[in-house]
Amino acid sequence: MYLDNYPQKFPADFLWGGATAANQIEGAWKTAGKGLTTAEVVSKAENRKKMSMDQVDQASLAAAIADQTTTNYPKRRGIDFYHHYAADIKLFAEMGFKVFRFSIAWSRIFPNGDDQTANEAGLAFYDRVLDELAKYQIEPLITLSHYEMPLALTQKYNGWADRRVISAFTHYTETVFKRYGKRVKYWLTFNEINTGTWGFHATGAIDQGLTKNEQLQLRYQALHHQLVASALATKQLHQLVPTAQMGCMLARMQTYPATPNPVDVQAAQAADQKNLFFTDVQVRGEYPGFMNRYFAEQGIKITMQPDDQQILSENPVDFVSFSYYMTTVTQAAQDGTAVGNMATGGRNPYLQESAWGWQIDPIGLRITLNEMWDRYQKPLFIVENGLGAVDKLEDGKVHDSYRIDYLRQHIEQMKEAISDGVKLLGYTMWGPIDLISFSTSEMSKRYGFIYVDQDDQGHGSLRRIRKDSFYWYQKVIKSNGEDLS
Ligand code: BG6
Repeated sequence: MYLDNYPQKFPADFLWGGATAANQIEGAWKTAGKGLTTAEVVSKAENRKKMSMDQVDQASLAAAIADQTTTNYPKRRGIDFYHHYAADIKLFAEMGFKVFRFSIAWSRIFPNGDDQTANEAGLAFYDRVLDELAKYQIEPLITLSHYEMPLALTQKYNGWADRRVISAFTHYTETVFKRYGKRVKYWLTFNEINTGTWGFHATGAIDQGLTKNEQLQLRYQALHHQLVASALATKQLHQLVPTAQMGCMLARMQTYPATPNPVDVQAAQAADQKNLFFTDVQVRGEYPGFMNRYFAEQGIKITMQPDDQQILSENPVDFVSFSYYMTTVTQAAQDGTAVGNMATGGRNPYLQESAWGWQIDPIGLRITLNEMWDRYQKPLFIVENGLGAVDKLEDGKVHDSYRIDYLRQHIEQMKEAISDGVKLLGYTMWGPIDLISFSTSEMSKRYGFIYVDQDDQGHGSLRRIRKDSFYWYQKVIKSNGEDLS
């Protein structure tokens, strides 16, 4: 027997599609009983290269609650998907989507997060979304928590810092699994769970004014609660819907050593381990030794209950999903230069960057896919990747060849990784329709195949317009990734 064969095409059942999040698209922030979310009290970034996500303290929170407009809080208006969902899904179907990733706003179902009874009007909205997807045989991929939670849980418990939020969350997950479980095969627990180390947007915990070390203590404790909640939700899903699959979701940040000097290589490995810690727990079911050492050295003490370890080890996820936007460079002596929205790392002189300073590295995606596959041996799913750019609407058209180039190069590398033997379930590019940016709350940072007529101030008709990339992606899906021209 000769081993002379390897896959050279995307699998026939490859899931092509796009990904969104409730707080960046839905709008209708007070409609049909919905409660206020943490995302809706984060104001716009002061400028394009700055992040706004964690500027939440008690004073800004009080100001946000008093302000009943959407002017300074664009995530309250989104792109009004709440009222446009049918037409938007029709456009996704026209591109040939096989899968659509979206998140449920927990506060549409439980306005205060820990209510006993679910809000039927909120549940009915996602029924309508699922009906629409079913009409076109588009597989839903649902994120249970994407950078938001009911604000009431911040006010009552300081978000995930408090263990009691775990039971509020599992009450919510049980409710949605029972309601939608038969129609939804793929689920994710927490979007980019690792970014909880950066603060409020993911933990819902206000930690302004604490020392750096106290902040780390609080954030890792909050993250421990999320890891336990994630494992419990996985257990529930498997019990309630044995055919469904749960995935974890990491903002994957491959980092390269700045030089071959072993001190840089070791520093890069340590940085990488901190990124992979979360998937390590969610896939392998236990805290890795390197984190125990890190916590001890930092004086961080994670409070666990006696059965936490068992919950984690008995309920690993079924597949591993991640977002991929950039790579970073690590040096033993970091100079702290920021690369992109979530990474602190050096610049890579071999790479180009987007207008927002995110370094573009398609080959890094192949490297990442190979490393994730080697490490976990579980099916992978790229659930975010894309280019935020300023688009110009000219004569009713958007000629976004730069976006096509970006996506083509990444898809080419996905195919290489498949040929390397990686098992890849699908690809949901980020923001198939223009939406509100997570990090800056700008509308002008556009990712979509579909242009939305709205500016940073919220002015515009909200009209949807197909960009050049719309027709390109349609061709890519139709040819199952063979025609990338
Ligand atoms: C990911 C988030 O980090 O990146 C998304 O999961 C986000 O919510 C995406 O929108 C792109 O980031 P940004 O800041 O350009 O919107």
